[in-house]
Amino acid sequence: MKFFVDTADVAEIRELADAGLVDGVTTNPSLVAKSGRDFFEVVQEICGIVEGPVSAEVTATDADTMLKEGRKLAELADNIAVKVPLTRDGLKVCKALSEAGTMVNVTLCFSPAQALLAAKAGATFISPFVGRLDDIGQDGMGLIGEIIEIYDNYPELTTEVLVASIRHPGHIIEAAKLGADVCTVPPAVIWKLFDHPLTDKGLAAFLADWEKTGQSILERK
Ligand code: E4P
Repeated sequence: MKFFVDTADVAEIRELADAGLVDGVTTNPSLVAKSGRDFFEVVQEICGIVEGPVSAEVTATDADTMLKEGRKLAELADNIAVKVPLTRDGLKVCKALSEAGTMVNVTLCFSPAQALLAAKAGATFISPFVGRLDDIGQDGMGLIGEIIEIYDNYPELTTEVLVASIRHPGHIIEAAKLGADVCTVPPAVIWKLFDHPLTDKGLAAFLADWEKTGQSILERK
């Protein structure tokens, strides 16, 4: 399963890339606003750090303007995935851009029917938002299972399932068990994957015992 980082914070992306944990990046208008940076500058900088797909979202809602925005974003770098909302106009733009060879990430997906439509429109990625469904008492991971089941029935649909709106490590493990293609994860949640109290306890015990030996690996000739 690929790990995308869900952020527009370049420092966080660099740190995770050094750990080999960045297969791509997703941004959205809220994340760009949070970064406080110029949209084009920050997206270009991210594309220079990361080889994999970097999602940059259009902000118009009509197909003509969305398509112009998408083409402009696609010119920024070869690894741009233009992000469009799951609306009638968004899927028209998805079809046009994907036919022109641009990667498209269809965002704000909340139902299996929407995911089927996005795949038929040639989406490179479909982004179902699991956390926002959980937030309103629905089953976010259930939606991932349904989409994977549907896509698996039709091998001609090549759209990758990109699990979005991830809130905690459990979401990532469940997505991996279901065979999702990608998870896009906020940096803080990726770092949480490292944590286990028995790792901390075990390491402390090993170090305490090693101290008693009085030995040093680096001082050994
Ligand atoms: C990613 O593509 C989405 O925009 C993001 O995961 C949404 O996450 P949120 O529900 O935490 O805002």
